[in-house]
Amino acid sequence: MNQAITSPAALRGALRVPGDRSITVRAVLLGSVADGTGIIRNGLDCDDTNAAIDIMRALGVAIHAAGAALCVEGTGLHGLRPAGAPLFCNASGTTMRLLAGLLAGQAFASALDGSAQLRRRPMRRITEPLELMGAAIRSTGDGAPLYIEPGALHGIEYAMPVASAQVKSALLLAGLYADGALVVRESAPTRDHTERMLAAMGVEITASDLVVTMRPPHHLRPLDISVPADFSSAAFFLVAGVLHPRARIELGGVGLNPTRTGLLQALNAMGADIRIQNTTTQGGEPAGDLLPAPGELRGIEVAGDLVPLMIDEFPIFAVAATQARGTTVVRDAQELRVKESNRIDGLAAELRKMGARIESTADGFVVEGPTPLRGAAVDACGDHRMAMALTVAGLIAQGETTIVGAECVSKTYPTFYADLARVTANHA
Ligand code: S3P
Repeated sequence: MNQAITSPAALRGALRVPGDRSITVRAVLLGSVADGTGIIRNGLDCDDTNAAIDIMRALGVAIHAAGAALCVEGTGLHGLRPAGAPLFCNASGTTMRLLAGLLAGQAFASALDGSAQLRRRPMRRITEPLELMGAAIRSTGDGAPLYIEPGALHGIEYAMPVASAQVKSALLLAGLYADGALVVRESAPTRDHTERMLAAMGVEITASDLVVTMRPPHHLRPLDISVPADFSSAAFFLVAGVLHPRARIELGGVGLNPTRTGLLQALNAMGADIRIQNTTTQGGEPAGDLLPAPGELRGIEVAGDLVPLMIDEFPIFAVAATQARGTTVVRDAQELRVKESNRIDGLAAELRKMGARIESTADGFVVEGPTPLRGAAVDACGDHRMAMALTVAGLIAQGETTIVGAECVSKTYPTFYADLARVTANHA
């Protein structure tokens, strides 16, 4: 699908973007092995979460809609049954990596596969530590498909070489089935939704000074969770609300877990004016409303511990950087090369087509600004966040922008273009 974008006269209105993808996938997986029926309110309905739901159904879990919510009839830790066919994770890295941990602890064999895009993504980062725990996993090279055999799992102490919440979470899910405590050492803080959810389900888990310790539980209490709006989806409208000169957007009920909101820190350092109000706690996670105001930005450096806290926001951050005065430098972000696309090279190539001055580096990129953007045909690279970031670039560009392959937004935000139409309508 090609999506045409032109700069609207204004951006106006209140939006509640859909529920958090990372939290929804975790709630589906963990809810499936809870002792009884749990409920997920405001969960996200998208390709990634549907992959997780379909797989848990194939493993014998009854999951059904209850009004706008989702009921998950947990089977208990040992109640899953073999699916009898490979489990298809589509393009969801979160589903594949977390599920590999969960399935490593089962008494039956499973095969995990995914789309061509997911097959290209690195899996050794999870198979290696899972094998250290005693899991038996076969794979071809570094990627999927993964063939998981039953194995007795042990508690281990593991220092993660990459800062990755997916690796940490895969180990925690396997750790539910281990014969002793699991200790995971992080190299930098990463999103902690799994730890929060496990604690809410009654698991003895502590996290401090980058060390997560968990004792294997006898059972998990079912969840009743209200999922906050996804910060990573709100990020596109947040930046649009800063960059478009006639924007007045309000983003309601957004998840503000500090392990996710590095983009707010970065935008604040650039001089952005973003108000936060009505802060609450929702489903064990902080949330609140975001009110960005248009204004000038200055270039900054992003590196080190800030990188994992905004790991999914670099495509939209790069768009913001094109409008900032001076130089913006991103370092220590080599992980961007192994996301849904190689975001370092993709961002440089596509934003340059719009007139941006951006150079890729081995572990990030350098942007000189501000540059007026001009409409162009740009490629989403099969990557939902590239599609949405380039769309926001189109909102401030002169002339028409065409997003080639925009349908990939369905991975995490199927209603993105409908929400955009709501805030761009009738403001001539
Ligand atoms: C995620 C963690 C991050 C993020 C991904 C979702 C998660 O990946 O990029 O979109 O839900 O745990 P890494 O753990 O590979 O950094």
